[in-house]
Amino acid sequence: MKRISALMVSLAVLSVAHAQNVPSPIPIGIAVAQTSNTALLGQEQVVGTQLAEKYFYARGGVNGTPIKLIYQDAAGDPNTAINAFTALINQSKVVGIVGPTLSTQAFAADPIADRAKVPVLAPSNTAKGIPQIGEFIARVSAPVALVAPNAVRAALKLNPKIKKVAVMYAQNDTFATSETGTFQETAKALGLDVVTVQKFQTTDNDFTTQVTSVLSSGVELVIISGLANDGGNLIKQLRQLGYKGVIVGGNGLNTANMFPVCGKLCDGVLIAQAYNPSVNNTSNKAFVEAYRAQYKKDPPQFSAQAFTAVQVFVEALKAVDKKKKLSTMSIEDAREALNAQILVGKYRTPLGEVLFDKEGEILQKSFYVAQIKMIDDKNGKYIFLR
Ligand code: ALA
Repeated sequence: MKRISALMVSLAVLSVAHAQNVPSPIPIGIAVAQTSNTALLGQEQVVGTQLAEKYFYARGGVNGTPIKLIYQDAAGDPNTAINAFTALINQSKVVGIVGPTLSTQAFAADPIADRAKVPVLAPSNTAKGIPQIGEFIARVSAPVALVAPNAVRAALKLNPKIKKVAVMYAQNDTFATSETGTFQETAKALGLDVVTVQKFQTTDNDFTTQVTSVLSSGVELVIISGLANDGGNLIKQLRQLGYKGVIVGGNGLNTANMFPVCGKLCDGVLIAQAYNPSVNNTSNKAFVEAYRAQYKKDPPQFSAQAFTAVQVFVEALKAVDKKKKLSTMSIEDAREALNAQILVGKYRTPLGEVLFDKEGEILQKSFYVAQIKMIDDKNGKYIFLR
């Protein structure tokens, strides 16, 4: 008898645990890189999400219910991203996840969220194929195919005599491999000769061999696909060893945290941008104002994309909650309803007006190119060219 009632109690506990409704505050997971070299990008993402949390808290959260961002450090490897996702899904019971930082990590961690039916908004994963990982995966970071070509066109505008190009990429990184494909296709489509393709690793520090090959090929343009630390060192060594032509950096180099790595030698590098601080809408104005107040400069792309991801979650949650109170829904049902709602909404964000196609690919109107202007050894800014 005693054993039967104990069994009944545990069954009751189990069914209560299963039927857990969406709590207040509503938990949203943030799984970006807070440590490792990838934190050069991830720190900017943390800032973007923190500003979004404050902004939406002040505006009543989700129809009066506050949101709470729960951070798990996804660091820089596929495994660390898997661990962060698993903890957010199973322990923190988040309704959705913003993360991870790298595409290489997304291909490992996103399938876990997809199988658990937890919506993911990728804040910076730009490799080909991210939204196609699964039904629950969407991104606010426009793909390399749309963003990267703008920088090559800007390079040609700067120097119409460019004919010969060197392409360099981190072969151990999925995003860099995807992006270099786009860069090489773009260069050829614009009538340029890709005379050398040089490979490296994101963990490399010494690029003497690759730079020597680039110098002997006599190119007028070097295009780099890597991440911030390796990319910064590569730029520095290209200049130190005497390269004088134009340099285009890819999306993984798009952070002011690279400036201390190449110092004054970062000067003049062109980088395509999916964000422009001058976007004219309420959410961007509030974002820029809050960022400037805290950091005394304009916000970078990775912060803007991370803010946007939180905004999309909040606005989609509001729409779900209007149809059926989230507090009356199980977390599982809320995650599914949220995922469906993300794809049908339209959002006025710091990136401008964005929406998604049925696979979860962002549809964004405008892209830009900026040129790095260094102020001193550590600080610089992005001058927007168009
Ligand atoms: N855009 C880079 C990636 O997708 C950070 O990995």
